[in-house]
Order: sequence, then structure tokens, then C-alpha cells
Amino acid sequence: MLEKLEQLKTDVELKVQSIETLKELQDYKIEILSKKGAFSYFMDELKKVSNENKKEFGQKINEVKVYLTSLFETEEAKLKEKELKEKLEKERIDVTLPGYQFQPGSKHPMNIVIDEIIQIFLPLGYKVEEGPEVEQDFYNFECLNIPKNHPARDMQDTFYITDGILLRTHTSPVQARAMEKNTEKTPIKILCPGKVYRRDDDDATHSHQFMQLEALVIDKDITMANLKATLDLVAKKLFGEKRKIRLRASYFPFTEPSVEVDVSCTCNKNGCPVCKDTGWIEILGAGMVHPNVLKMGGYDPNVYKGFAIGFGIDRITMLKYGFDDIRHLYNNDLRVITQFKKER
Ligand code: PHE
Repeated sequence: MLEKLEQLKTDVELKVQSIETLKELQDYKIEILSKKGAFSYFMDELKKVSNENKKEFGQKINEVKVYLTSLFETEEAKLKEKELKEKLEKERIDVTLPGYQFQPGSKHPMNIVIDEIIQIFLPLGYKVEEGPEVEQDFYNFECLNIPKNHPARDMQDTFYITDGILLRTHTSPVQARAMEKNTEKTPIKILCPGKVYRRDDDDATHSHQFMQLEALVIDKDITMANLKATLDLVAKKLFGEKRKIRLRASYFPFTEPSVEVDVSCTCNKNGCPVCKDTGWIEILGAGMVHPNVLKMGGYDPNVYKGFAIGFGIDRITMLKYGFDDIRHLYNNDLRVITQFKKER
């Protein structure tokens, strides 16, 4: 029996050397040392041994058991370490590899222009306001002195959602909202940039969705001179100190008088595609707030006056950066947009 015990010991010693995975080793350990494993044979045999030999045999068996248990432990530890090493090697991260290229965004040219206009107005005490793009007929038209069946509604072909709800055709409804919101009826100085919508067929100069920026001032002593000085300042800051402005009489139902504002062109009138050799480029509409609009906003037109300006952001952006097609502003072509990176 002792021979068999020695044999098992050598067998196990040999076998564990050839085992390469932890799992295999653990299975083998069960095969040998578990209750029904190969080693249990000796425990059974021990019962049969005569009493005088029992002690010696018992000790021997125990020695081998302790030895084998510790052999398995050492081998287990070795294999664990080996497997960990392999795992780490497999999952090694090469920190010197170049990372993923991260494309920093750039501002859209129209946002650059909006920011620029806001920066001109902020020091003058204006605040930026927002209004909904899905607007009520009431604010988009009625409050702005454009009642139902008014011919001026044809000037702004409208996307209606229901009878009384539409996509705003201009940022001017924010004028009406600002006046209504100001329950104290104190002076107002606001700016409102945003998207507007009209039922136009898209082409090089038309887009069914475009951008406006509305400026509104309401106060006691506001005159046309204030409007003109403001327009002059903005034109010079936006296009350069040498630029001049020209006001042409125009018509908007919500302003009286109304003007269209041109900025002087820098060309030498020799086939200029921008001003068509007229020397002037139209950039916006403006005017003194109509008394009816003041009244509907809760302001006494005998006490309060105001002016409003409607910047066409698309047009100004196209002029400033030389775009010849408005659709370039909306196609989200990165080749176009990323050119404005430096202006961040
Ligand atoms: N709301 C006008 C338009 O979209 C522009 C405008 C704004 C004109 C403010 C005068 C005053 O055509």
C-alpha cells in the first residue's frame, strides 16, 4: 500500500507539471483529493490495517496528503499568476498610440453675425429676449397692426398650423410679447434673434426658413434721430468705419414712418455683383413703432415712442462673408462651416 501511495505521489507530481490551466488543475485536484477522489482509497485501506501498523501508515498517508495539498496550492498560485500575466499582456494599453482625432466644432457664420450684433447692442443697455417659433396669429399679425384680410399678410406667405397658430413669419411678434409682458409699462430695450419661416420656394436668395434679429426700443423721448444714429453705429461696427447708411421710405404696418436701410458698397461700380453698381446694399427694415402697436401693447402713444429694427441675418452674413447662395447657410456642409473656426 505504501508503494501505491508513493506511486500516486509521483504520478500527481508528474501530472501537475503538464497541466497548463487553472481549471484543469482544479479538476485534477478534485479527482485526487475530494472525498471520492483517488486518495480516498488509502483512507479506506487504513481502516483495514492492523492496529500496530495503523499509526505508521496513518502518519504516512497524512504526510502525503499534506504534501499533495500544498503541492496543489503552489501549482494553483503559479497558474493564477501565469493567467493574470497573460491577461494583462493581452489587454495591454499602448499609451503611446495616437488618440482618436477630436473635431472641435466651429461657430456657424450666422451665429457669428448674431453674436457680433448682440455685442454691439449690449453696452447700450439692450437685453436679449426669446419668443416662440410656433406663434399665435394674434402676436404675429393682430398685435402688429395687421388685422385679418389686411393686404400686408400677403407680403409674408405663412405656414399655418391651425387657424390661429402659425410658424412666425418674422421676429416682430417678440415686440408685442415684450410690451405685453412689461406690466409696469416701463421703457423697453430688447434684442431677439431667431428663426422665422415663410412659404417661399428655396433658391439662391430665398429660403423657407431664415434668421432675423429684432431690436426694439420703447421710451419717452425716442425719435427717428435715435433710430438713425443706432443704425449708423451698427453698420459701421459690422461692415467697417468707412461705410455709410441710407434710409429709404418704405412700408411696414407696424412702423410709421418705415424705412429700408442700405449700407454703402465698397466696389468701384464696375460690374459689382453685390450692389449691381448702385453703390448701395439693402440690409434691413426698420421704423418708428406704430401708435396702434404701442396702444395694443398697453403703452400710451402720446407719452411713449419707440423704434424697431429687423435685421436680415442671412443677408448680412452673405454680404460679410461673400456667400452667393443662401442655401450654403443651411446645407450643413462641413467644408463650408469649418472655414469659420478662427472666429470662435
Ligand atoms: N418684421 C419685418 C419683416 O420681417 C422687418 C421689420 C422689423 C421692419 C422691425 C420694421 C421694424 O419684414
